[in-house]
Amino acid sequence: MHNVRKINKDYYWVGASDRRLELFENIMPLTKGVSYNSYLLLDDKTVLFDTADSTVSRQFIENVQYALNGRSLDYLIVNHMEPDHCSVIEDIVLRHPNLKLIGNTKTLQMIKQFFDFDAESRFIAVAEGETFSTGNHTLTFVMAPMVHWPEAMMTYDVEEKILFSADAFGTFGALNGNIFNDEVNFDKDWISEARRYYTNIVGKYGNPVQAVLKKAATIDIQMICPLHGPIWRNDFGYLLDKYNKWSTYTPEDNAVMVVYGSMYGNTEATANVLMTKLAEEGVKNIVAYSVSNTHVSYLISEAFRCSHIVLAAPTYNNGIFTPMENFLLDLKAHGLQKRAFAFIENGTWAPVAGCQMMNIVQELKDSRIIGNTFTLKSSLKESQVSQLECLAKEIANEINSKN
Ligand code: FEO
Repeated sequence: MHNVRKINKDYYWVGASDRRLELFENIMPLTKGVSYNSYLLLDDKTVLFDTADSTVSRQFIENVQYALNGRSLDYLIVNHMEPDHCSVIEDIVLRHPNLKLIGNTKTLQMIKQFFDFDAESRFIAVAEGETFSTGNHTLTFVMAPMVHWPEAMMTYDVEEKILFSADAFGTFGALNGNIFNDEVNFDKDWISEARRYYTNIVGKYGNPVQAVLKKAATIDIQMICPLHGPIWRNDFGYLLDKYNKWSTYTPEDNAVMVVYGSMYGNTEATANVLMTKLAEEGVKNIVAYSVSNTHVSYLISEAFRCSHIVLAAPTYNNGIFTPMENFLLDLKAHGLQKRAFAFIENGTWAPVAGCQMMNIVQELKDSRIIGNTFTLKSSLKESQVSQLECLAKEIANEINSKN
């Protein structure tokens, strides 16, 4: 059964949502599902903007065929070649043998890598700023390398002022009938998953995102159609502000995030005491996560949100407690910058986790260390509480001075 929504006079949303896939890219948990957006333009020519993941191919193809209403498909614009959007290209080609593919030279190379059908003979290569007429609509192309792959590009409808933005401005989360941002409470129900999507998928590529934002600022945009999540048709300032902060590694919130690893509860108990002292110093909205049972994608997302990060971990195999080390290496891989860190380490006979955590954190651009590493030997002693209070005061002074 088809499941299509009309976007405006000539455009249709023909995408599909998946609420069964457990892990996006076989890494990130999808607790709210994910949508694979695809758009169809019915003009003198018919044009499809990207396809979908193979997991939703049946729904997707039913949608495209229904919206075409007997017409054949003339063009498929391939804005992004990651398989969550390109998996169904060959099926579409088989259904529409005269179909032409539109992309850039890197797109063609990737199509040939992923597929064995003859793409070259049906491929139209486009470059930055080139235009393409479909009859009543003029499409132009904006290259967006590394947002999120090197071939990524965006397509802009000059008459309708619609930007087909590929992965940019997307989010995790299935679409539940409401496909426009003004049909949902984005700031309440979607922003966490939008942040987790951005930071984990594109977070490393802040500079390329900044380059695209600068290009977008020169274009009159009335609608943004991303490949995941709601279509944006108002409140662009809200969205651009988030993207600007995320891509420049600017904290969204002047806030403390505590990430702890704890084998038997002693490190966690110390983190709890620190948080109580922080609260007594006036720090609000403290968040805490066990590194052992929080998927690292949530930790990455929260680290992009918060300005101050407290890391508390036992020493393990003469190194860092393994889940904490994994988190810090992932943070480094995502290129987080401009954060303040404080450390709590534990070690029953040879505590070294603090020093080793600090070594990784110091590789992050413009990171800062607050206070001295607080060292536990097995469990917190009453005689150490004043030292913990000092650390809490140093963190609280920074937070309070900016509130
Ligand atoms: Fe949604 Fe980079 O693919």
